Parts: sequence; C-alpha cells; structure tokens
Amino acid sequence: MKIIGTGSALPKKSVTNDMLSEFLDTSDEWITTRTGIKTRHIITDERFEDLATEAAARAIDAAGLCPDDIDYIICSNVSNYFVTPHLSSLIQGGLGIKGPGCPTMDVNVACVGFVYALDLCDALLSTGRAHNILLVAAEECTRFCDWTDRNCSVLFGDGAGAVVVSKGDSLISCRLTSVPMPDVIVYRNPMEPTPFETGEGVDVHMPLQMKGREVFRMAVSSASRDIQQVVADAGLELGDIDHFLLHQANLRINEAIRENLGQPEEKFPTNVQRFGNTSSASIPLLLDEGIREGKIRRGHKVLMSAFGAGFVTGTLILKY
Ligand code: COA
Repeated sequence: MKIIGTGSALPKKSVTNDMLSEFLDTSDEWITTRTGIKTRHIITDERFEDLATEAAARAIDAAGLCPDDIDYIICSNVSNYFVTPHLSSLIQGGLGIKGPGCPTMDVNVACVGFVYALDLCDALLSTGRAHNILLVAAEECTRFCDWTDRNCSVLFGDGAGAVVVSKGDSLISCRLTSVPMPDVIVYRNPMEPTPFETGEGVDVHMPLQMKGREVFRMAVSSASRDIQQVVADAGLELGDIDHFLLHQANLRINEAIRENLGQPEEKFPTNVQRFGNTSSASIPLLLDEGIREGKIRRGHKVLMSAFGAGFVTGTLILKY
C-alpha cells in the first residue's frame, strides 16, 4: 500500500482545563503536569458522521480523486452514537457513493484501530480486492466518559483523521499484538434487559473505567519493545526513522518512550496538548498535520505506534 491523500476534521468546540475545573474537582496544573493536555475538542451539536465524512472528503480531495473512485471504505471506531448501521456505511452515504461495488466495514481495535486497519488495507490491495481504499479513524470518546469522574473525562477529545491508500510498496514492517486483559480499560454499552434475565451474571451499564497507572506502564514498555522490534525487522537503525508518530494519550508516556529509544524530540510530533486522547484518530491527525505543514515529505520513513484497550498494540514503518 501507499498513502496518497490525508485529511482531518475536529469538532468546533475547544474546551480548556479551566473550563473543566468549573464543574470537576481538578485543575489546569494537575492535568497539565500529569498528561500534558491543555485543551480538547468536544462534539456538541454537530453530527459525528458529518465530522467523519468531512475528514474523508478532504483525504479524497488531497489524493486527487473523486468519491466514486473509492472502492472500499474501512472505518476505525470505538465510540459512536450508531451501533448499526456501521459508521463506514454512513460515511459512504455522506460522500454520495451509491455502491453497490464499494464494500464498507468498521474495525474496533481501540486506540490501535488505525494501525491495524492500515495493515488490513495492505492485504486487500496486495490481493487486488481493492484499488483505492478510504480509511477513516473517527472517535467521539467524550460520549462514554462519566462527566462527574475526574479520572477519565479530562483525558479524552473527539476528532477524525482519514487517508486514501492505493497499491504501492510503502509498508516496510509491521507488528500487531493482542493480549486479553479485559479490566485495564473497559466500557460496556447500555443494553435493553430481556424478559428472560435472572439478574445473575448480568453486568449493569458503567461508564469508562481505567487502571491508569497499569496502562501507563504497559504502554511505555510495549511501545519501546515493539518499536525496536519493527526497526530491527526492517533492517534499519532507530536513527533511520524520520518521524515517530506515537498514539497521543499522555505526553509523559511518549516522553518515556522517547527516552528509552534515545531519539531527539523533534522526531516526535505531538497533538495531545491541543486535542487530548482522540483514540484511533490521534495518529492520522498527526500524519495529516505533518504533511500539510511540509514536515513529513515523500521518501521519509514514518513509524506509527499505538496501544490501547484489550490490551493491544500495533507498530509499523512505512516509506511515505
Ligand atoms: N484532577 C485532579 N486530581 C485527579 C484527577 C484530576 N483530573 N484525576 C485523578 N486525580 C487524583 C486521584 O484521585 C489521586 O488522588 P489520591 O492520591 O488522593 O487518591 C491522584 O490524583 C493521583 O492519581 P494517580 O492515578 O496516581 O495519577 P497518575 O500520575 O498515575 O496519573 C493518569 C493518572 C490517568 C493521568 C495516568 O495514570 C495515565 O495517563 N495513565 C494512562 C492512561 C491512558 O493513557 N489511557 C488511555 C490508553 S489508550
């Protein structure tokens, strides 16, 4: 595969830490020192599927294509008002792609969804099943936070990033992992009770729960391990990588990974300060910004690495 266009979109409302401290027992000082986050965009009266469609349209435009050139749509998504129909189908409708020759599917691999889906795109393109795939990572995680709980709600933001990928030989190496650890980050959808329930073994709905310190430790150790592995698999040195696009959950996590790797700060772009943790959208948002600012250029070696609920990780290197 190769990436031929990128795009992104953010909700219009930007919320500062001080705005949160008006109704939560928190402070700008606590959030900034523990996470690096200063502001995040939060969805208000926009329709989430419109935001995702906007990012998609920009990526298609940047690729020099029109929507009807797209023959596969994949959407990475954890949180979404619609359980069904799936978000990629709504995006297809929003773009005016009539089908039927354009399959759509969503993948949910938590914050790692974009990296997993890029690997999937490579498989679809190399077998000739698709020619121009639209991959959108769109998240509204702020909708599954308990806004009376200062532990989780201050961490997240909403946003969408998109790429168009077509056939090419950009992907250099990739490592995807999954280890079942259901308690470290968990959110269960509210479900309608059936008349057959006994009440035993039925979990009540609960907002997002997270073991922050455990996630922090696992994120640093797994990303440091995976990054060194994919670089070695590619026959490269860490110094050959031009940009390290790490999942943006916490600036301190990324700083610890960077220190483990002994690489300079300018190779690690960040957006968590402005956008919070946008789950699987964080890496495509970084990518789009880096390309638009002219920092990520053709021929550069770009490493992407993410971790998230599961516990899952995904790391890849591509030549942009
Ligand atoms: N404002 C003020 N105080 C807060 C707070 C907030 N928003 N959130 C938690 N606290 C308090 C806690 O209640 C605790 O108080 P106590 O000592 O009186 O019990 C104190 O701050 C310390 O909490 P602790 O959990 O030790 O902080 P921490 O340094 O581990 O930072 C996280 C907490 C969540 C920021 C950090 O663990 C983290 O980022 N983990 C990774 C989470 C993540 O990335 N998840 C997404 C993965 S995709």
